[in-house]
Amino acid sequence: MPSSIFINQLYRPPSSSSPETLPSPNTGVRAFHQSLPGYKPSPLVSVPAIAARQGIRWCLVKDETERLGLPAFKILGASWATYRALGERLGLRENGDVVSLQRLAEAAKAEGVVLFAATDGNHGRAVARMAGYLGVGARIYVPSLLDEEAISKIRGEGAEVVVYDGDYDQTVLATKVAAENHAEGKGVLISDTALTVDDETANWIVEGYQTMFDEMEEQVLEITGTRTITHVVTPVGVGSLTQAVVTHFQRTPRSPKPMVIAVEPKSAACLKASLEAGEMTSVKTEYTICTGMCCGTLSAIGWPMLKSGISAAVAVEDSDVDTATKNLQSCGINAGPCGAASLAALESLSSGEELALGPQSVVVLLCTEGRRGYEMRSNSQPEP
Ligand SMILES: Cc1ncc(COP(=O)(O)O)c(C=O)c1O
Repeated sequence: MPSSIFINQLYRPPSSSSPETLPSPNTGVRAFHQSLPGYKPSPLVSVPAIAARQGIRWCLVKDETERLGLPAFKILGASWATYRALGERLGLRENGDVVSLQRLAEAAKAEGVVLFAATDGNHGRAVARMAGYLGVGARIYVPSLLDEEAISKIRGEGAEVVVYDGDYDQTVLATKVAAENHAEGKGVLISDTALTVDDETANWIVEGYQTMFDEMEEQVLEITGTRTITHVVTPVGVGSLTQAVVTHFQRTPRSPKPMVIAVEPKSAACLKASLEAGEMTSVKTEYTICTGMCCGTLSAIGWPMLKSGISAAVAVEDSDVDTATKNLQSCGINAGPCGAASLAALESLSSGEELALGPQSVVVLLCTEGRRGYEMRSNSQPEP
């Protein structure tokens, strides 16, 4: 069996009708995204061919292959976190009003701030894009294994790229130190993973993903005529996106609550390792075509939500992701590997009792990334 599936015994179903005691969603997030150049809802695409093959009622793909002019969903979080972090830093609080990007840009330029981020590709490019909008500098740290194409795309946004001699986890730590030591405290770290539980910026990243789910709710109703979603399959790197999924469904009153199924590459399955151990556990990562998901440690604020909020974690092989990528492309969805990982996970699940997949299921696959070049490699063989 190429994929391995872990059914989460720590899963605690939230009450079906009442929202848990989570803070209400920030209603300013979508208005903020609508103010950015090129905003439009990403499509939710019904794929009847996959639904028929899987024996489910609906297979709906939330297609994030193009989002605010970039080929991944990450700018939803990066933009909102940058906006909030700079707003705090520069004393431009909202006071009920949304501070315009232009006002933020003027203040940020006058202050001479520089944005810092660690990335496997997409987050750093999104932070660099925001720096471009604001007219401030960006210094983006990447692990040494990141491919040249991803690096040149970040440079193409006008950012300085620092190739760090280490893996993603080590790069995250180095970036935090570099931001803190930057000239006269002018470095602003936009991290999409929390190193400690009180990391506000990582919380804003999670909050920024809310726009995707607000759109999805409207689109599910439009397509299926009901609000029912039975399963959501979501890719995991550090787990911030999945934290946002779990948070959204916990605070939306509905019955039944959807099951959240997380997918990771086998070579970076830190969520599955953590669930198996019953505590947050780091793993040593190896090469995967799912570059954006090649993370060895979960976000410190994500793990407590994921541990009780997801139903299963699936670890997939690159070869299955490669096949899923081609399948989605043949259905007209321009998916890259991280985006297709959700389909690879769904295809590895049989209609068993535990995950209750069957003819009534309404499954949403989060397709987080657009098509890009990648190289298939076997980790069991020495690299060239
Ligand atoms: C395309 C893509 N999909 C999924 C993920 C995973 O998101 P998270 O790290 O929030 O778990 C990432 C992370 O960078 C990504 O770039």
